[in-house]
Amino acid sequence: MTTIAADISQASYIGQPISRVDGVAKVTGTARYAGEYTAPGLLHGLVISSPVAKGRILSIQSEEARAVNGIIKIYSHENVKDLPWFDLSYKDMNLLPGSPFRPFYSNEIQFSQQPVALVIAESLELARYAATLVRIEYETAPFETDLENNLENAFTPKRGKTGYKKPKNRGNAKKQFTKADVKIEAEYMHGAEHHNPMELFSSTVVYGKDGSLTVYDKTQGVLNSQSYIARVFDIKHKKVRVLSPFVGGAFGSGLRPQYQLFMACLAALDLQLPVRVVLTRQQMFSFGHRPATWQKLKLAASNDGRLEAIEHTAISETSRFENYTENIVNWSGRLYSCDHVKLDYRLVPLDVNSPLDMRAPGAATGVLALECAMDELAYKLNIDPLVLRLKNYTEKDPESGKPFSSKNLMDCYKQGAEHFGWEKRIYSPRSMKQGKQLVGWGMSSGMWDAMMVPARAQAKITADGKLVVTSATSDIGTGTYTIMTQIAAETLGLPLEDVSFELGDSKFVFAPFEGGSATAASVGTAVLFACKKIREKLLSLAKKLEQSPLANVQDEEIVFVNGRICHQDDIECSLSIREVMDRTGTKYIQEKNSDLRAMFKQLGYARNTHSAIFVEVKIDEDLGLISVTRVVAAIAAGNILNPKTASSQIMGGVMWGISMALHEDSFMDHQYGRFINHDYAEYHIPVHADTPDIEVIFVQEKDTVVNPLGIKGVGEIGIIGTAAAVANAIYHATGKRIRDFPITPDKLL
Ligand code: MOS
Repeated sequence: MTTIAADISQASYIGQPISRVDGVAKVTGTARYAGEYTAPGLLHGLVISSPVAKGRILSIQSEEARAVNGIIKIYSHENVKDLPWFDLSYKDMNLLPGSPFRPFYSNEIQFSQQPVALVIAESLELARYAATLVRIEYETAPFETDLENNLENAFTPKRGKTGYKKPKNRGNAKKQFTKADVKIEAEYMHGAEHHNPMELFSSTVVYGKDGSLTVYDKTQGVLNSQSYIARVFDIKHKKVRVLSPFVGGAFGSGLRPQYQLFMACLAALDLQLPVRVVLTRQQMFSFGHRPATWQKLKLAASNDGRLEAIEHTAISETSRFENYTENIVNWSGRLYSCDHVKLDYRLVPLDVNSPLDMRAPGAATGVLALECAMDELAYKLNIDPLVLRLKNYTEKDPESGKPFSSKNLMDCYKQGAEHFGWEKRIYSPRSMKQGKQLVGWGMSSGMWDAMMVPARAQAKITADGKLVVTSATSDIGTGTYTIMTQIAAETLGLPLEDVSFELGDSKFVFAPFEGGSATAASVGTAVLFACKKIREKLLSLAKKLEQSPLANVQDEEIVFVNGRICHQDDIECSLSIREVMDRTGTKYIQEKNSDLRAMFKQLGYARNTHSAIFVEVKIDEDLGLISVTRVVAAIAAGNILNPKTASSQIMGGVMWGISMALHEDSFMDHQYGRFINHDYAEYHIPVHADTPDIEVIFVQEKDTVVNPLGIKGVGEIGIIGTAAAVANAIYHATGKRIRDFPITPDKLL
């Protein structure tokens, strides 16, 4: 009897810190990325980008370039005509209201670095050389790229992109404001940021003899890329296969098909040859960004620290051709208990490319402003910033009035503060010095959605006892391969090495793109149900066998362990899966399923993840140098499938929050309307030396509503609130409120 119990606990994978199943492939270089696939006679494309922000192309002189030996063809609006997509509206999973950017559509220039031509050559070097010989003449037009100069042109969007929620007001914040004892008002500004994954955007397209395309693409959703190509080039879906087994980071940039995909397909179809197009690092700053946003927060409270009114206004940039919207202000109506809330969200169209989702779009910026304002209010009230949060804690969602499916933010505050040592904090700014350095401690709350979206998985077990599970989802570095393998292995009681999970192929069953921290919950539930179906079939086969030891065992007493179907209390009373399949002549069992009932159950609840972030900074005031020396991130995100991959997600998010506070800024030079620091030398991201110890705590949170596995997702919650905690720590250290992000030394001095 004890043997079985030991076996069961050994075969338990959910909740274990399993190392990445794809780790060896990644570190040994056998994992292949979109730009690494090849084919005989592969051609290479180089994109030429517009140096002007607005205007039109007057002429393109490419004779000299075309005369270079090995140059195959140069594409531009002059020779790309009559594509079917000129008549078809393309529906993207991340659809924005408006009209998506169409490369080579006309001579019009809509933003700086717009792709204007594509040079196809026998080698990348040749393409790059020939591109320098192409002479393009432009006529420039006046443009606007400055958000702060155009705030008065803001309009309220009627519609938003998929997932946009119109902010909801309640009570009468204005009236409450005039009566309140204590109030603060502050304006915050942050510039644009670019995703900058290590892997450049790349597509390798192999043209098949029958006119089919095999496309290796860097994307967060193979089905999204497939449907894009099918519609734009008017090809049947089944003739387009998109593969993306590995993605070297994306952070939202791969939620929309990027223009190198269009270009590689265009050339491959036209030339009927294999083509690869890879963007340059500079061009990684041309296809969408976290939008620059101006925000204003007004908070009112009673003398004892109860929030009486919240007003949050945000004005963000968008392009002239699409309305990119985010849920920025919405969090201010949901994080704390408050009866009077006024939210206002507006957009300013500028001559830039459309912004694009970047890790925790909306919350990363909206919660930053709210949580800085909360710190300002705490100091106005003369109370501890953590105490202010506790006083305004809410057990139900104040916006909808619904209960949370689960919310253990309280333990995040408690455990986070305890691990950090918050109680030793001296309240007054500039009071914690260490030698020449000023020490500051700051904190913040965070909140994100716990989403589940329809997704499917297919599981197939073969007579040799091996299980293969597939789904058209992706792994953008998050650990999808690993956690899905864990769920499948545990459900069928198989050793991990007998289970493989495959993804990133448009041939697999439906899954949406990987985004919104929804993949673990959505695809995970589908994997669970597909494997449960197999389990049921195996059990019924096992029971029907002649003289089956399991014939009279109740289903509830059955466990699947180490490849065997067993009575939970008696190891002798068991059959191996292989034996069952062999004796019944079953070659394989295949099931695809997902359980949408899990989604209906959710409707009566607010479903969110929460966090509390504690940060220490040390500042050399003479030089304005800020270093973040410690971070404790306490996270409430339901059931944690794998503490190792989940901690990595949180650490990555926290680092990005530090980056947002101190480093990252796509600097728009309004003289040219161009992001001028468009490379890793000038665009600062935190390196090891900028990165402190990050302690990640997952607090207990049991959730029976969100999905059968109780998963909430951890991809985004780590970044939310972190930048505010850093800014608040800087205030505590120096007594200076810097409301313009990133907080660079010049601003501090
Ligand atoms: Mo994320 S911005 O949902 O890829």
